[in-house]
Amino acid sequence: MKHVLVINGPNLNLLGEREVDIYGNKTLDSINKECENFIEKQNIKFKLVFFQSNSENQIIEKIQNSKSFHGLIINAAAFTHTSIAIHDSLKLVNFPIVEVHLSNLYNREEFRQKSLISPIACGIISGFGSEVYKLGIMALNLKLQK
Ligand code: DQA
Repeated sequence: MKHVLVINGPNLNLLGEREVDIYGNKTLDSINKECENFIEKQNIKFKLVFFQSNSENQIIEKIQNSKSFHGLIINAAAFTHTSIAIHDSLKLVNFPIVEVHLSNLYNREEFRQKSLISPIACGIISGFGSEVYKLGIMALNLKLQK
């Protein structure tokens, strides 16, 4: 069975109460459960492992210790735009990386329009609210079937 890591960065633990007009009213827990139901319905043979942290250090350590995984879906949140350290750690992994964002980075502030994750990712899904995680799972599934 393939293991897929889902990493969420800072402030995403507050989904459901944080800027709901932008990020929606679902909690991260309910989004994670929807993802699990989704893979079951779609008969996708992944085991999803969820990790959220507000700490750059913990995210880097998780990535460094992810060698047993087959794929990664990452919403690095604000670290997307700032973290050369996460960028460098993602260069260490050999599996496909899908970058996701609930909001559309390109119709927001200019500082969100630069991602340090995108150059390492096989693709980016941005702007479909909580559905981006399911779309990320589908993208990774196609990628891993090749
Ligand atoms: C985000 C977009 C980032 O710019 C922001 O800092 C976030 C969430 C998104 O999912 O839309 O925290 O990654």
